[in-house]
Amino acid sequence: MEREEWSSTLGFILASIGSAVGIGNIWRFPYVVGANGGGAFLIPFLIAVLLFGLPLMVLELAIGRSTGTSVISAFRSIRQRFAAAGLVIVAVVSLILGYYLVITSWVLAYALFFVFNQPMEFDAFTGSYLPLVFFLLSGLAVYVTVRSGVRGGIERASRYLIPFLLVILIFLVVISLTEPGAVEGIEFYLSPDFSRLADPGVWIAAFGQAFFSLSVGMGILLTFGSYLKREPLFRNAAIIAAADMLIAVLTGLVIFPLVFTAGLDPAAGVNLAFITLPTAFTEIQYGMVLGALFFLMLFAAALTSAVSMLEVPVAALMDTYGYPRKRATLLVFAAIMLVGLPSALSYTALNLEALGMPFLDLADYAFGTIGLIVAGLIVSVVGGWFMSRIRICEEIGGCGWQQKIYMALIRYGVPSILLITLVGSFFLGTG
Ligand code: PHE
Repeated sequence: MEREEWSSTLGFILASIGSAVGIGNIWRFPYVVGANGGGAFLIPFLIAVLLFGLPLMVLELAIGRSTGTSVISAFRSIRQRFAAAGLVIVAVVSLILGYYLVITSWVLAYALFFVFNQPMEFDAFTGSYLPLVFFLLSGLAVYVTVRSGVRGGIERASRYLIPFLLVILIFLVVISLTEPGAVEGIEFYLSPDFSRLADPGVWIAAFGQAFFSLSVGMGILLTFGSYLKREPLFRNAAIIAAADMLIAVLTGLVIFPLVFTAGLDPAAGVNLAFITLPTAFTEIQYGMVLGALFFLMLFAAALTSAVSMLEVPVAALMDTYGYPRKRATLLVFAAIMLVGLPSALSYTALNLEALGMPFLDLADYAFGTIGLIVAGLIVSVVGGWFMSRIRICEEIGGCGWQQKIYMALIRYGVPSILLITLVGSFFLGTG
């Protein structure tokens, strides 16, 4: 069967923005900024995105387009034995998807709570078995989308959801900036503390956040690249990265003014999105409407990211074992629901724990932090060192001095930074 293609460059860009913009932008980024030097954090973050994230994005797209196939088969075509490395990447994305879907399902639940004007305490929600219902519902939404194909599913979802997200976001920014706590919130969020830049932990946080947020090193862009015609890759990658950063920065302008307007302390992590913010929404004017909009926006972001993750194992099954899309999607969907189940149960009355923390937190650390970096390392080494230089040059528009700098970054810069981030993340633990 002929390989599917994006219907247009815009379709591809929207799908990639859909992949990049997710839970990571909307609640992870703002609190990472707040905790790591405020506005000053933007310096290491920008460096991380431009010098390391962007080159790796381009490399993934180049591998995908040049081999015309997904992770496992692409790696195999570079060297037979790299198929196993491709399999590792497929496994990491699937494991991330397992717990990512759990958070996605909480977002869906909160969106509906606000839409129906019935806010529910986080403990009461997770203590019930409702999370399992929503886990299944979100899983089904992702399943149905990927099953419908590259154009008819993945691209179409992003075409509707990304503009929807942007409109809500801009509306919320305007509202938040006119709230009484706006100044205090922005001060907390952005007032720069440059002394923090001397702390290596801040840099590690910036690199970790950049790679997570750009969805890079996961084989997603590689798979997306395999559906791409000839295009200027750098320009497309730059647009995707810019949109990703812009949306991340803007959501901070929504969150902190609201939190301070409600007179609350900005908490970190799960608590910020599912306890602090919902409380804030119950306290400010028109909070129910704003809450509904906020969680609907977050759901749109999370759904398109989850869809892009699911496409990686599905495409791998199709390309490597010749499965038809529908069967591949069903199989992977079932596997992901099983893999995600322990995370889905970890905040419920069952309180599933491992190594002394909720299973979901452990999964976020093991797969979403360490696994992600390892996968990025694999991509940069396989692509940078083993794919022929000429083939990469062909994809990135020639072999001039710019491309030489690029190759040096890919071969030496990106792997070193990933190694440092890996070691740093070990020492910094789950915090
Ligand atoms: N980039 C997505 C986000 O910001 C998450 C993601 C990570 C998606 C890894 C795919 C792979 O939420």
